[in-house]
Amino acid sequence: MLLKKYDAFILGTYTWGDGELPDEFLDFLDEMEELELKGVVTSVFGSGDSTYRLFCGAVDELEAKLQGWGAVIAQESLKVEFGPTKEEKQLCREFGEKMVARLNVVK
Ligand SMILES: Cc1cc2nc3c(=O)[nH]c(=O)nc-3n(C[C@H](O)[C@H](O)[C@H](O)COP(=O)(O)O)c2cc1C
Repeated sequence: MLLKKYDAFILGTYTWGDGELPDEFLDFLDEMEELELKGVVTSVFGSGDSTYRLFCGAVDELEAKLQGWGAVIAQESLKVEFGPTKEEKQLCREFGEKMVARLNVVK
């Protein structure tokens, strides 16, 4: 799996059903389960709709799985309502930058 080539990665997902990961993410998760992710630096972002009971529930689920596999969650997840606004796009850039900064400290 390509993820093995990287020191760190950011994963993003929208939320489906009742706060769930979308079906197209599930095969990817199965493959991730086979990897050794202990100590790997990650963070998670995603979109959702706050009228649902579990806003961006898939983001929380994914983060919990990564934590369970021993990955290091580098920063609080970024949750965006629908498509990102101009301000949120800036937050997305900062999200990436913080990840790189964190990686430079870890290495
Ligand atoms: C059937 C359905 C179920 C959804 N369930 C949730 C949910 O449980 N929690 C949530 O935050 N968003 C939920 N959403 C909203 C989507 O995550 C949201 O539309 C998407 O993240 C934003 O992308 P879009 O602007 O392309 O729609 C759901 C949307 C649909 C259509």
